[in-house]
Amino acid sequence: MSDGSSIETLVAILRSEVARLSPGDRLPSSRDLIARHGVGPVTVSRAIALLAAEGAVVTRPGSGTYVAARRPRPAGGEPDTSWQEVALAGRHVPPAAPDEQPERLPPGTVALSGGYLHESLQPTRLLGGALARAARRPDAWHRAPAAGLSTLRTLFARQVGGDVGPEDVLVTGGGQGALSMLFRAVAAPGDPVLVESPTYPGALAAARSAGLRPVPVPMDDRGLRPDLLADAFAMTGARLLYCQPTFHNPTGTVLAPERRRQVVDVARAAGAFLVEDDFARLLGHGGLVPRPLVADDGDGTVVHLGSLTKPASPSLRIGAVIARGPVMRRLLGMRRVDDFFIARPLQEAAVELLSTPAWERHLRTLSGALQQRCAVLADALARELPDWTLHRVPEGGLHLWLRLPAHLSEADVTSTAPAHGVSVNPGRPHFPAEPPAAHLRLGFAAAAEPAELAEAAARLAAATRAN
Ligand SMILES: Cc1ncc(COP(=O)(O)O)c(C=O)c1O
Repeated sequence: MSDGSSIETLVAILRSEVARLSPGDRLPSSRDLIARHGVGPVTVSRAIALLAAEGAVVTRPGSGTYVAARRPRPAGGEPDTSWQEVALAGRHVPPAAPDEQPERLPPGTVALSGGYLHESLQPTRLLGGALARAARRPDAWHRAPAAGLSTLRTLFARQVGGDVGPEDVLVTGGGQGALSMLFRAVAAPGDPVLVESPTYPGALAAARSAGLRPVPVPMDDRGLRPDLLADAFAMTGARLLYCQPTFHNPTGTVLAPERRRQVVDVARAAGAFLVEDDFARLLGHGGLVPRPLVADDGDGTVVHLGSLTKPASPSLRIGAVIARGPVMRRLLGMRRVDDFFIARPLQEAAVELLSTPAWERHLRTLSGALQQRCAVLADALARELPDWTLHRVPEGGLHLWLRLPAHLSEADVTSTAPAHGVSVNPGRPHFPAEPPAAHLRLGFAAAAEPAELAEAAARLAAATRAN
C-alpha cells in the first residue's frame, strides 16, 4: 500500500526515530522498515524521499539512510527571517485573495464554505483512469504547444458552440490563472474594470493584483442592469467588464435572455472587452443552460473563460480562454513569458477524461446531486432561519446567497458558526465597494452528504441564538 496516509504515518514514525538518534546514525534498512511496519516498498521510498527533502536524513545509494547533521535553530525554534522585512519594505504588497476554505476543518465540521465539490461528488475513478491512460502515452512528457494540445482546444471549442474553433482557444491553469492573465493582458495599472456587485472575490483580487480598480455595477434578479452598465462605461471610460452571465457566483443569477444581447452591445459600443466567466456551465441542476455570450459574438468583444476544476476536481487545474484577434496573440505572448505551457500530462488527462462517455454520465449524476442538495439546504434554512432572506433557489452552481436580518452582523455569525460545527463564507469579500447589507454565501457541494446540510442549518440557527 502506498496511499498518502500510510506514507504520512511512516514519515511521522521515522521523524520521531530520527529525533532520538544522533547525526550520522544509520536508519533501519528498507527491508526492515517494510517488515516492521507492514508497508510496501513504494511507501518506504516515498517516506524516505520526503525526509531527505526536509533535510532530516541523507541517503547514500548502496549504503543506507543516515540521520543528517542538524542545522542550528534559533532559540524560539523558528528561523530568523526579519531581514526580509527590510528587503521587502517599500515594495508593492499584492492583495491576497480571501481563503474560502481552510485546508483542514476541525473534525465534525460541516463545510458550507468553499467552492469545490466534496470528494464523494468528484469523478475520482474516472480521473484516475484518465491520468493512467495519459501517463501511458509515449509523448506524455513531451513539450506541449503554448496554446495547449490541439485535441483539448477542440474539446473546449465544442463545449461553447457557435463558430468558435480550436484556434480561438488557449488552455490555462484553471480559471483563476486565466483571470489573472486576462486582467494583465487587456488593461493597464490604474485602469477601471467594471464588475457585477456582488461578484467573485478571486476576480476582485486578480484585478487588484494587476493594479486595476474594480467599479461595481448593480444587478437585480435578472442579472446585470444594462442601463446602469452603460452609465458606468460612460462615467469611468472603462474598457473592460468582468461578468458571470450564467449561474453567477455568489447569487446564482442567470442573465435574462433579453439582456444577454444588450449587455454585449453596451460593451461593444464602449469599445470594451467583456470577460465572460462561465465557470458554472457544467454545474446546471437539470434545466436548460443558456448559450454562452461568446457563441454569438462575431468581433472578439467577448473573451470567454471556462474551467474543469468545478465539475471534476480542484486539482484538475485545466481551464480555457476563448478569445479572437490581437488579444489572443497577446495572451500567447504572456504564456511564453510566464510559464511556457501547461504541463502536458495534465492536459492529456483532461483529454482522456472529456473523451470518455462516462464523463457525460458523471455530469448528469452531478447535476441531479446538486439539485437535491440545493433543495435540502434551501428547505432547511427556510425552516430553521425564516428571517434570513434567500436571494433565489438557483438553477445551477454550488451556492445559496442569503441576506441576514438587520439584528445580525456578518462577523458575529461567521465567528460563532465554527464553534457550533459549521463553516460559512462571509458576504463582504464579494463586494467591490460598501456592501448594501450583511450577507452569507452558503455552499451545498462541499459537505459529505445531503443529510449534513439539514444539520448545518440547525447548527447555524443555534449559532445565531448564541449571538
Ligand atoms: C466565478 C469563479 N471564477 C473562477 C474561479 C476559479 O476557479 P479555478 O481556478 O479553480 O478554475 C472560481 C473559483 O471559485 C469562481 O468561483
